[in-house]
Amino acid sequence: MQNILELGFAHGKSTLYMAAALDEIGRGSVITIDKQNAKERDPNIIALLENVGLKQYVDPIFANRSYTWELMKLIERNTHNNYCKPLFDFCFIDGGHTWDVTGFGFLLVEKLLMPNGWILFDDLAWTIESSARIPDARKEQIPEEERKTAQVGKAFSLLVKQHPNFHNFKDDGWWGWAQKKPFEEQSH
Ligand SMILES: C[S@@+](CC[C@H](N)C(=O)[O-])C[C@H]1O[C@@H](n2cnc3c(N)ncnc32)[C@H](O)[C@@H]1O
Repeated sequence: MQNILELGFAHGKSTLYMAAALDEIGRGSVITIDKQNAKERDPNIIALLENVGLKQYVDPIFANRSYTWELMKLIERNTHNNYCKPLFDFCFIDGGHTWDVTGFGFLLVEKLLMPNGWILFDDLAWTIESSARIPDARKEQIPEEERKTAQVGKAFSLLVKQHPNFHNFKDDGWWGWAQKKPFEEQSH
C-alpha cells in the first residue's frame, strides 16, 4: 500500500505512522483531509511532519467545510470520458463519524479506490452519546436515536458490507476492513 488517502487527520498522528511506513519502503504518498481548524491544533500536522522529517510523503488538505467536497474535486480532476481513474490502494476513514458523512464519504472513496485496494474504518462502535469531547448542549440538539446509534458501524454493515464491489470484510467491533474486488469481479 503506497498510494494512501486519509479522511480525518486531527493533529496528524495516524498520518505520521503511515508516512513512516512509506519512508521504510522509500516510496508512496498520503493525501490526507481535515478541516481548516486543524491548522489551529497544537501541535498541528504541518509542525509534526516537519519535526519528524516526513513532509515529503504527505499532502495535507484543509477543507473549508468537509472532505466530501474535496473528494468531489478529486473525482472531477480524475474523470475522463465518464470514468474516474482510481488513485489509491488504501484509504483510512477516521473523520465525520456520522451516517451522512461516513456513508457518503464511503461512496466517494469507492470511486477512487483501485481494484484490490483496502479501506479501513476506525470507531465502528463510537456514539455521539459516549463522546466526552462533545458538549452536552450540542448533544441535546441531536435526536436521541442518532446520539445512541453507532453510526460508523451502520455505514459499515449497511453500505460497505452490502456493496457489490467489496469483499474480505474484517470487523473486530471497533476497526472495520474491506477490500475492493478485482476489476473483473466488480459490477460495471
Ligand atoms: C478522530 S479525529 C482523527 C484522528 C487521526 N486520524 C488520528 O488517528 O490521529 C477526527 C478528525 O476528523 C475531522 N473531521 C470530521 N468531520 C470531517 C469532515 N466532514 N471533513 C473533514 N474532516 C472532518 C475532525 O476535524 C477531526 O480532526
